[in-house]
Amino acid sequence: MTLDIEICSGTEAAGQQVAARIAALIRDKPDAVIGVATGSSPEPVYRALARYTDDGLDASGVRWFALDEYIGLPPGHPQSYRAVLERVLIRPLGLHPTSLHVPDGGAADPDEAAEAYEAAIAVAGVDLQILGIGENGHIGFNEPGTPFSATTHRATLTESTRRANARFFPSTNAVPVECLTQGLATIMRAGRIELVASGSHKADAVAAAVRGPVTEQCPASILQRHPDVRVNLDTDAAVAVYESS
Ligand code: F6R
Repeated sequence: MTLDIEICSGTEAAGQQVAARIAALIRDKPDAVIGVATGSSPEPVYRALARYTDDGLDASGVRWFALDEYIGLPPGHPQSYRAVLERVLIRPLGLHPTSLHVPDGGAADPDEAAEAYEAAIAVAGVDLQILGIGENGHIGFNEPGTPFSATTHRATLTESTRRANARFFPSTNAVPVECLTQGLATIMRAGRIELVASGSHKADAVAAAVRGPVTEQCPASILQRHPDVRVNLDTDAAVAVYESS
């Protein structure tokens, strides 16, 4: 099996573990290309990684590629994924904002912006991709039903995803309806993948992703076909993985 499951005592421990592997990658390959997710799941990873840079790890040669970005938020909106990643990753690590690449959610032509982003990632080549997972099994903003063959594209968020992300906005209505997201085929080209999930609300999605059938109805299930994936879970998120094995 190519999909390793690691159960951690909590989110900070999981974050520390993933950060240690990222730090090792950066020491090994100072110009590594790292794909980064937003949302709550990876924040402990970024916090732990900042401790490595405080202790002397030089991440200045790394290029970071975001998974996705909302369409239609005004430039500089604090919940745009560019702003979030600058806040939780780039500034704490003392890096220059130009090292962060994010799809252009403000582009006049989002389809063109998606194509340009896909081309940039293809040229860069992601060494390691960090992922969270949605309660419906989405990765990036590839909602259930997205073709496995999709590359970076414009997508519509489901109501359940907008409700889940409403915690970052004044209301669900304020959550954008559309986004640009790396596609599943884009994500699958990464050399290695580290997925992070915590909490019982993620348990069913995690179990479906790692133990269920590989189906477009559970986008994360495609990871079963990737040669090098580590799934980092806290005990609550891991509950249904045990039940279904
Ligand atoms: C974020 C992303 C999403 C999130 C997922 C889980 O860039 O692409 O797939 O990883 O929605 O979000 P959290 O971690 O906030 O529960």
